[in-house]
Amino acid sequence: MPGIHIDVDVAWQRASAGDWMTYAADVSRRQMKGSQVHPQRRPPAPTQRLTFREMTADDLDDMAALLGDSDVMRYYPRPKDREEALAWIEWNQRLYRDNGFGLWLITLRATGEFVGDCGLTPQDVEGTTDIEIGYHVRAELQGRGYATEAAAACRDYARNVLNLDRLIAIIAPDNFPSQRVAIKLGLTLEREAATKSGSQVRVYATAL
Ligand SMILES: CC(C)(COP(=O)(O)OP(=O)(O)OC[C@H]1O[C@@H](n2cnc3c(N)ncnc32)[C@H](O)[C@@H]1OP(=O)(O)O)[C@@H](O)C(=O)NCCC(=O)NCCS
Repeated sequence: MPGIHIDVDVAWQRASAGDWMTYAADVSRRQMKGSQVHPQRRPPAPTQRLTFREMTADDLDDMAALLGDSDVMRYYPRPKDREEALAWIEWNQRLYRDNGFGLWLITLRATGEFVGDCGLTPQDVEGTTDIEIGYHVRAELQGRGYATEAAAACRDYARNVLNLDRLIAIIAPDNFPSQRVAIKLGLTLEREAATKSGSQVRVYATAL
């Protein structure tokens, strides 16, 4: 169906030019045409400084360095080894295929430099599944507003492309940078909850 592929390319070029409304309209038009591509399987449009794309096994070096960094993973039980980083990539590839979204790889538009990941994943909290916004930024690049910029684009994607009506963030009580990002996105503290492993987390949430 060559016509559909052309439409997809045109939509992406327009989105790169920053025309969000055209981008969203093109995405929904593709849905109505019954494209072979998963109707929503397209990362958020680029932001001022960042680009999103699906992660693949070719990104293992970057993802293993990110998820293996004890600083980035200080609120997790422990850093991930290379095999666990590959499992992380494969988990996201399943999410892209099954849901049309997941955590996307983020890079700098200007240089292509790897920044981290950011995106949307289904998460179960005490028996209820919600879509969580998540973000991890390389330690050397933190504090420059990248997580906020990427996550704002993912929040808008959740609202405008996926038509979600609720978004959460599950955050360790002492992870202040992550809570700060969530608050800047418009999420507010909803409740404390326990994870399956028994640790306490804060659930931030917003209606979209
Ligand atoms: C959370 C994370 C993604 C933020 O990335 P980032 O690109 O540095 O985020 P931003 O620059 O957009 O914003 C960070 C905010 O946290 C604030 N912050 C940083 N350190 C802080 C601290 N110790 N206490 C309070 N606020 C802090 C910053 O001041 C900034 O808020 P401001 O704009 O109001 O000043 C990054 O710290 C990270 O990767 N952490 C490890 C992974 C992680 O915990 N992910 C979230 C899992 S829930």
